[in-house]
Amino acid sequence: MRSYKAKMVEPIELPSREEREAALERAGYNVFNLDARDVYIDLLTDSGTGTMSAEQWAAMIRGDEAYAGSESFARLAESVRDVMGFEYVIPTHQGRGAENVLYGVLLEEGDVVPNNSHFDTTRAHVVNQGAEPVDCPSPAARDPNSNEKFKGNFDIDAGYALVEEVGADAIPVVVQTITNNSVAGQPVSMANIRAVAEFARDIDALFVIDACRFAENAHFIKEHEAGYEDQSVAEIAREQFAHADAITMSGKKDALVNIGGFTAMRDETIFEHAKQRAILFEGFPTYGGLSGRDIEAMAVGLREAVSPPYVSDRVEQVADLGDLLSEEGVPVYLPTGGHAVYLDAGEIFPHIPKDQFPGQELVCALYREGGVRGVELGGFAFPGTDRPDVVRLALPRRTYSYEHLEHIAETAAKVVETAEEYHGLEIVEEPPMKELRHFSAKLEPVSN
Ligand code: F0G
Repeated sequence: MRSYKAKMVEPIELPSREEREAALERAGYNVFNLDARDVYIDLLTDSGTGTMSAEQWAAMIRGDEAYAGSESFARLAESVRDVMGFEYVIPTHQGRGAENVLYGVLLEEGDVVPNNSHFDTTRAHVVNQGAEPVDCPSPAARDPNSNEKFKGNFDIDAGYALVEEVGADAIPVVVQTITNNSVAGQPVSMANIRAVAEFARDIDALFVIDACRFAENAHFIKEHEAGYEDQSVAEIAREQFAHADAITMSGKKDALVNIGGFTAMRDETIFEHAKQRAILFEGFPTYGGLSGRDIEAMAVGLREAVSPPYVSDRVEQVADLGDLLSEEGVPVYLPTGGHAVYLDAGEIFPHIPKDQFPGQELVCALYREGGVRGVELGGFAFPGTDRPDVVRLALPRRTYSYEHLEHIAETAAKVVETAEEYHGLEIVEEPPMKELRHFSAKLEPVSN
């Protein structure tokens, strides 16, 4: 069941196979370099690509563009208080702006930061402060076929092992990413959030939640965690945050906007320091690099994200895509996560060695075959890790229809049927910061 209908539409077109091949070559076999008009179905990200509601567009007209103390800011602060329970909020241009502001205040050279799994920008911001990011994913995350429900969890044992190794004093912050984007968009349980909060308290560290997909996570808790079936997603969302000291948020995900983010916290001293840093990097702390109208859209979107039936509808559409792909025999990470379906490129292309980027080859194949743009989140995006070579197909919120999902599944099925025809890629040009190479590196097919 879909709980919305289209009110505004945007034409899309599938370029011919020859055009797609030429576009791919021009892009250096990196789909970040494609022109969006050459993409038929764009699953590069669910970030800022969704469809806003009529209420959000209406709110934008109300945008107060005052440089300081705008009414729009007051409405955002009220939404953050109501939906998330934090007293202090600083808007930022997007999630990474929030990471820069908060981690710039909390971290110092030589610190160590455990996280269930850092997303790429989070990892880069921790590194940028001279600190070391350490992933502590649940061991269950490693098995793409087990049907465990909370594979996004933080492995508390790994957290304590890290404390043994580096000492508690080196760890000022413990982070939990909900849902766990780097582990196939898998949710974390409330029990695990509680356990991470306790771990952080035990080592005298602050507990920060990377809140991007907090509503999707709350939905999974309602569906699968005992004791939460009768609570609303809004109540569960608030309980998630009740355990945390601060959050970073990309509004481009579960605040249902095209641009925007914020950091929020309980501690007034941290807030004051963060405001100073926000002025330096984002703007005066009541607009944070956003227009008043952007802030209005975010204030409304946050509330919509936890209102039924938005979020069940959202997660069910992702599950529909997972089911269609599975029915076509395409190996997908199970269970499907909240915002995306992750394909196992290692299984589709077992003959392509890891250093010839089977994941990136699959991304290129999906584009060539059906004009579908996904993103590699394996050995190409995370160099030096032993991550499985997964490809993420992220669904923009409230945007595509079931027919689009069918096209995606048919395209992937065609690639799987002709898998032996693919031989992998090699990098011919890459930027200096290795953590960000997948955004701009250029590749070429290996000669076989
Ligand atoms: N944290 C997580 C878990 C994210 O998924 C993202 C963005 C960010 C932080 C940074 O937020 O983009 O607003 O600066 N993820 C997008 C993605 C880009 O495609 O998954 P941002």
